[in-house]
Amino acid sequence: MNTTTTARIMLGAAIAALAMTAAPQIMAHGDVTPQAVDTSSLPDIGEAWLEKNPYSGNARAIEIGTSAYNQNCARCHGLEAISGGIAPDLRYLELGETGDQWYMERFRNGSSHDGKVYMPAFGEVLGQKAGWAIRAFLETKYTEE
Ligand code: HEC
Repeated sequence: MNTTTTARIMLGAAIAALAMTAAPQIMAHGDVTPQAVDTSSLPDIGEAWLEKNPYSGNARAIEIGTSAYNQNCARCHGLEAISGGIAPDLRYLELGETGDQWYMERFRNGSSHDGKVYMPAFGEVLGQKAGWAIRAFLETKYTEE
């Protein structure tokens, strides 16, 4: 066995070991702490939860929403809102008020069934300004099914 072959085998073993140590982190992605979002530069919208996105088309909201999405949602829903399969593809969320309401229901409450958390709730931790900013970003990614 020459040294190049030995080196290749050792590299292969190192990669396999690395893959195994990385696995638990990937599986624990649901527990990552939500990242705070600075929404102070967005117009105030009051305390009561709205039914319709007040920031639709607002450039500043889209910018904030893009970063908030990347930090809090992309690990499950995919970068650029293109799902890798573990969570629904958010590009297909209906536009307009019906889509807004469904979006907000999930954002606020998350989704759990049979005692298992599929998606954590974000309403309390991120607040509605961040929620609507993310929705404004998602609207720019809308794709027909
Ligand atoms: C831990 C993974 C995870 C994270 C993080 C996550 N989601 Fe989800 N999300 C899911 C899963 C899984 C579902 C499907 C739940 C079901 O069908 O019960 C879902 C469903 C949704 C839906 C409904 C989609 C549909 O087609 O019905 C919306 C809207 C949504 N998520 C938005 C978000 C937003 C916005 C964020 C970030 C603030 C986020 N999610 C973060 C896993 C996640």
